[in-house]
Amino acid sequence: MDKIVITGGRKLKGEVEISGAKNSALPIMAAALLAEGESVIENVPDLRDIHTMIRLLRALGAKAMYENGSVRIKAGTNLKSLAPYKLVSTMRASVCVLGPLLARTGHAEVSLPGGCVIGPRPIDLHLKGLEALGTKIEIQHGYVNATALRKLRGADIYLGGSFGSSVLATANVIMAATLAKGRTQIENAACEPEIVDLMRFLKKMGAKISGEGSPHVEIEGVSKLHGVHYSVIPDRIEAGTFMFAAAMTGGDVLVKKMEPSHQNVVIDKLLQAGVRVEKGKNSIRIRRTGALKPVDVTTLPYPGFPTDLQAQMMSLMTVTPGISVITEKIYPDRFMHVSELNRMGSKVFLEGPSAIIHGVKRLSGAPVMASDLRASAALVIAGLVAEGSTEVHRVYHLDRGYEKLEIKFSSLGAGIHREKE
Ligand code: EPZ
Repeated sequence: MDKIVITGGRKLKGEVEISGAKNSALPIMAAALLAEGESVIENVPDLRDIHTMIRLLRALGAKAMYENGSVRIKAGTNLKSLAPYKLVSTMRASVCVLGPLLARTGHAEVSLPGGCVIGPRPIDLHLKGLEALGTKIEIQHGYVNATALRKLRGADIYLGGSFGSSVLATANVIMAATLAKGRTQIENAACEPEIVDLMRFLKKMGAKISGEGSPHVEIEGVSKLHGVHYSVIPDRIEAGTFMFAAAMTGGDVLVKKMEPSHQNVVIDKLLQAGVRVEKGKNSIRIRRTGALKPVDVTTLPYPGFPTDLQAQMMSLMTVTPGISVITEKIYPDRFMHVSELNRMGSKVFLEGPSAIIHGVKRLSGAPVMASDLRASAALVIAGLVAEGSTEVHRVYHLDRGYEKLEIKFSSLGAGIHREKE
């Protein structure tokens, strides 16, 4: 297994290009199952989760291959219904084949995703939405056994839970509804840019959808969709990670090939923290010369502050003079980075779903590990400002969601490299 070794203390300077969004690419790849013909999806990052999805699509009888940032998928006419535990247990996003399989074959057997280090992640909203479209759902032997009672039929569905909207439940229900008979109306749909991207892909395939980016979405079912060429949006979480890293190190970084309109809340928090932010058409320049100021953050569904940037924001706050507070409203237990950051000398105290962060003068490098993708990214950027050397172990988490992370940081002047353990 590899580890990332970081020598802290260098200011980041220069330009970095953002890769395609993993969390857009995954549901879009599942959506390609909705057509018999071939789809070519571009700007797909070369990540472990993407290759897991390719293996899953192949297990379902589709042809799928990755080449130079593109994925070709042809679902043909002989789809299988079984998404096995072996694949689903390594990547929860596998659950988004449920909607497309039901719509295409009338049947899906998908392993229940099970526990997750960031806290409980139920799929009741996915199942509620699919049931409303006319599916019989049974949970048997750890699998969701879903069978369309007849052809799926459009319905009015309220898709909110105790934590608000659900990104992948919205994706699943929309995908199933594209081939259902009649009209589906979803209330409390997720508004995340990745869901908007999925809807644009589906519309290009011939789906009739309106309301993208709003909590009210309408889908008029059609009888068939066709394969298309499509390019996924830039990864707003990767972009945000570089923006926080630039701010932390007191650097000057132009983050390129990104979508500034997806970063409004991140920009707002950075401005409050005393960081200079200049928006370009497809770029944002981050500069900091003065002291950082404390900020309070609450994670919320889009356009609120993303839970997937909470850990990285916390790293920034650990070296911000004064007291900052983070409240996690999506995954109240998503704080496994706290104890590792504290091993690096930060002073973070947990109080229920809130973290109280007393800024320290400097962090000190240490061997650390995290059991989640974003927590690992937070430890890497903490290492960039820590005194001495930081080793981030279990790098396979980072490899699930960040393309060439250490190469990109190194090109900005960071002391960072990958080593075999
Ligand atoms: C997506 O997961 C992302 N994954 C996650 O990214 C991200 O953290 C999350 O959305 C929130 O933004 C992908 O896009 C592949 P949710 P998803 O359903 O869709 C509760 C990363 O690091 N809920 O929007 O599974 C749930 O427990 C990851 O890249 C129910 O109660 O998340 C949570 O509190 C990790 N019932 C809230 O809703 C359900 O049926 C939002 O979760 C579904 C969800």
